[in-house]
Amino acid sequence: MTDIEPKYPDSKLPVYEAVAKRFRAEFGGEETAVYFAPGRLNLVGAHLDYSGGDVLPLAVDLGVYAAARLRDDQRIRLRSIDQEVDVDLDWSEIGDVMDPATCWGRYPLGVMHFMAVAGAERRGVELVFGGNLPIASGMSSSAALEVVTATALDDLLGCGMTAIERARLCHRAEVEFVGVKCGIMDQFASALGKKDHALLLHCFDETYEHVHLDGSAFEVLVMDTKKPRSLAATGFNDRVTECREAHQILRREVRDLPYLAAYSMADLESAGDALHGVHRKRAHHVVTEMGRISEGVRGLRADDIHVLGHSLNESHRSTSVDYEVSCDELDFITDSARELDLVFGARLTGAGFGGCAIALVETGESPKVIEHVRARFAERFGVTASFECLHPGEGPRRLS
Ligand code: GLA
Repeated sequence: MTDIEPKYPDSKLPVYEAVAKRFRAEFGGEETAVYFAPGRLNLVGAHLDYSGGDVLPLAVDLGVYAAARLRDDQRIRLRSIDQEVDVDLDWSEIGDVMDPATCWGRYPLGVMHFMAVAGAERRGVELVFGGNLPIASGMSSSAALEVVTATALDDLLGCGMTAIERARLCHRAEVEFVGVKCGIMDQFASALGKKDHALLLHCFDETYEHVHLDGSAFEVLVMDTKKPRSLAATGFNDRVTECREAHQILRREVRDLPYLAAYSMADLESAGDALHGVHRKRAHHVVTEMGRISEGVRGLRADDIHVLGHSLNESHRSTSVDYEVSCDELDFITDSARELDLVFGARLTGAGFGGCAIALVETGESPKVIEHVRARFAERFGVTASFECLHPGEGPRRLS
């Protein structure tokens, strides 16, 4: 564990201090509240949320921090220690959809907009953000940014929202304000995170349960290919559209079910040639991935990590072949990890197209896996991948 353990949990401390320090330098005064919201990893259930299926994410112990203070006027001043662009505007300048030139500021502004729509006071605010998640790598830095904003404003304005209300509002901000047609997984995983638990979320009706993870049985190793991806700029929205179209075909040709993930393999067969090409491939992934979720949850509940690992491996294969959201780097890094018996399973995490993969590793064996995969990956791509062993963390909270 030598080269990864020192980063946990002390890696969180510098960001906490950095946002508070920048806040004092930028806005003055000592009275600052600091909040945290976690990023997430999805164990299994890839690209099922917007098709009404089940997902199994966990909140991690890395995320986004925000130092925050209300103002007495209507001025909004946003800063980030990770981004160069500052955002300064009046409440009256927030439209229904923000100019993309506002870049990272659209996420917190979208949350503020929908909080106001829900009745929150349009008070000016000063916020400084900072995070320790790899940005745009599949660990939901954008959801963490939204959830930390909602957590801070809910607390400062005394709105009394529940965690699920904050999750819904943040999801709405991302879909309607930022314009990414994502499902609910990321915002729910961050807002409802629970230490040492995964979240089994039924996306169609937004019901959920926490499933205990035996942290002593395996480690979750995140392997960052460093291949950048931006959710809004990739084929993510295309996949959402293709799944909607596949659902329409099945409704018309087979039977009328409320969401794509509710169909069975027999339904896909009944559709015959009416369901072909990308529509058949996307539907095949969705239907078979529902089976892998059940298998994975069964494995977790029985403390059988081999079973969970198997569902991860099959999930990766399906996201690569049927869903076509993998890439050479993600295929290679997961294959390299699987070469070792110490690895129970591996798959890409998040939307894909680049970013991170995860491997479930025998406890204490991550350094060996890191050494092996790092060397193989550097030899193939000339890039030094980075690695981090993560732990299921708490949900969002006020730290000071
Ligand atoms: C992104 C989206 C999520 C989900 C995943 C894929 O993270 O934001 O809603 O669709 O991709 O599982």
